Amino acid sequence: MPLNYHDYLKLDQLLSAQKPISPDVGRKAHEELLFITVHHSYELWFKQILFELDSVLALFKAPSVSEDDMGTIVHRLERIGAILKNLITQVDILETMTPLDFLEFRDLLYPASGFQSLQFRLLENKLGLPSDIRLTYNSQPYTDQLKSEQVKTATAAESEATLFSGLQAWLERTPFLESEDFPFWQKYRTAVEDSFNKDLAEIDVNSFLTSEQKDRAREQMRATLSSFSAIFDQDFFQTERNKGHWRLSFAAIRAALLIQLYRDEPLFQQAFRLLNVAKELDGQLTQWRYRHALMAQKMLGRKVGTGGSSGSQYLKATAEKHSVFSDLFQLTSFFLPRSKLPALPPKAKRSMGFNYGDTQ
Ligand code: HEM
Repeated sequence: MPLNYHDYLKLDQLLSAQKPISPDVGRKAHEELLFITVHHSYELWFKQILFELDSVLALFKAPSVSEDDMGTIVHRLERIGAILKNLITQVDILETMTPLDFLEFRDLLYPASGFQSLQFRLLENKLGLPSDIRLTYNSQPYTDQLKSEQVKTATAAESEATLFSGLQAWLERTPFLESEDFPFWQKYRTAVEDSFNKDLAEIDVNSFLTSEQKDRAREQMRATLSSFSAIFDQDFFQTERNKGHWRLSFAAIRAALLIQLYRDEPLFQQAFRLLNVAKELDGQLTQWRYRHALMAQKMLGRKVGTGGSSGSQYLKATAEKHSVFSDLFQLTSFFLPRSKLPALPPKAKRSMGFNYGDTQ
């Protein structure tokens, strides 16, 4: 018997899973099928995302990640990014259901809620959302909402390797440019100070500013300069990290900064793509959270969620707080324009190039 499209894709099983419950209680709600179909398609995409993410975490487990594997990692994470983009726009489809339509069957859903999606929790945990920053739900751990047989799987993903831990370990192994004849961080500090002194001098001669405005501008600039201590002074960084201002280690933060500053060097290009895609994924998930929160607000107004949370307020707060790679966004504060970066000595530059056909 030749393989049949229907059988290969198990369409009988797949297409028999969309079963509205409103007809069972004698009040058929037209929109309920759309509600189920959209949720099913989300869960299918979550499945694909977790499949890609697991393969990336496995590659990150190696003591050193080869360039080939790095290409695969970046490529698969970019695929996750493409899926997440799709998940954000899928909200448009569900929003063709009006709040009034939703009310036709919403009461039948209690107390079920997207809050109980195991795959979504696995996605958060595998990306590296730490349990200590997770917002609680009615002061209860999120696991209280899962089925008992799912709790072990969800919590195991909290303690196993995550994209955050894999990226951190990999960053910590990034070779530094630091050497006796090229003390990079000292040079970078000088470049930063020179740049600030130049800006301060420009404030002094700015005839459009009042003396109070000048004082304020100088004060702000000094505060910005002192914030640079986070990348120059490990003890200062550690204190800030203990307060929860940073999550990555000092070594990882410095490597991430270096990669972004010198991203044009061939050796750093793949690494730069990796950092970029980590930021993209974080940003896309935040966008989804926000989009979903707005949809919940439109649908429910001030009503609580079917799962009992404060509804859209809880969801908006997760968009603010549940970022995994916020450190990579913060790092931008320590950038200098390319023209002000310390020039790499020829030896360091050569070691960061591919030098095809070079016989020296
Ligand atoms: C009419 C459309 C929707 C409304 C009004 C809505 C509303 C809500 C509300 C109020 C919550 C907070 C928990 C609660 O109290 O129930 C929630 C959580 C959640 N919903 Fe939805 N939702 C909708 C559609 C969707 C869709 C299509 C998905 C796709 C999978 C989804 C996934 C989730 C997830 C994963 C959570 C947990 C979020 C977190 O804890 O960070 N929701 N939803």
